Amino acid sequence: MNPSSERRTPIRPGVLVARAVFPDVVARLVEHVDVETNDNDEIWPQPELIRRLQGKAGVFVTGGEKIDAALLAACPGLRAVCSMAVGYNNIDVPACTAAGVLVSNAPDVLTETTADFGFALMMATARRISESERFLRSGQWRHWGVDMFAGSDVHGATLGVLGMGRIGQAIARRGVLGFGMKAIYHNRSRLPEAVEHGLGARHVGKEELLREADHVVIVVPYSAASHHLVGAAELALMKPTATLTNIARGGIVDDAALARALQERRIAAAGLDVFEGEPVVHPDLLSLPNVVLTPHIASSSLPTRRAMANLAVDNLLAALRIGQQAGRPPTALNPEVLG
Ligand code: GLV
Repeated sequence: MNPSSERRTPIRPGVLVARAVFPDVVARLVEHVDVETNDNDEIWPQPELIRRLQGKAGVFVTGGEKIDAALLAACPGLRAVCSMAVGYNNIDVPACTAAGVLVSNAPDVLTETTADFGFALMMATARRISESERFLRSGQWRHWGVDMFAGSDVHGATLGVLGMGRIGQAIARRGVLGFGMKAIYHNRSRLPEAVEHGLGARHVGKEELLREADHVVIVVPYSAASHHLVGAAELALMKPTATLTNIARGGIVDDAALARALQERRIAAAGLDVFEGEPVVHPDLLSLPNVVLTPHIASSSLPTRRAMANLAVDNLLAALRIGQQAGRPPTALNPEVLG
């Protein structure tokens, strides 16, 4: 027997890319691993996801695929779960750690883009941009009016940031430096004094923030602790002229309670990029004029979405010990699993 015929080509690990992703970013994986893609961008039910993960060492996910203990038990070959989202409430990280599976998310690369959007959504809400555009497009505009679509000012107003992580801080910077806003924030842990000073933001209790702010922007991660962080009781504390913007996750705001508050004009308006049960949106929100609705696009600029996808690939290649980054996933959430 020819000894060279006995030499085996090393087996390439298998990776599942669970959603349709930029082809050139997927090509970076194809160079090194066997890749199964989801070019039709189907939303796979859990059994289908599990079926496709059989024999795969890694999976590229977004904020939508549920990675839980049951999936891990059914996919014993899985070694890395790399998400292109910053929020990772869809992934049971402790269960992954217990199973020795590396998890990564995609922080930092989306901070400024997401803050731009949060600020834009807050401004569109305060200045009634969607509502007035709908009026114009439907042919109702007959003449200029003195108080036509008169909203509330953003400049000089009080900005209340609920959740002061990287994105919250970037929003506060925009408000204070760009628009002369007064910034207050509430966070479980207070920022160091020097950081507060640099931002010009004051830490307050949640209730004070809700009472004082003209524009509340929510940027907290979703967890059991932040479920319905803003419900009927919290909305009741807000000024009737105030706006509420949520770019964090559905479920942090009680959407039914918010719809009631908007209907009864207990607050002026809301801007929502995320929803409980999305892509289904509470029907009362859909029919209200004083709410700006966008389909979970806060991080969606092309350069940023590309950077997020590339970061997930960097993490996957490193976790599977491939290429120059082998073993050093840049944004691992549980690097301890690599030893
Ligand atoms: C988007 O919502 C993300 O978490 O990146």
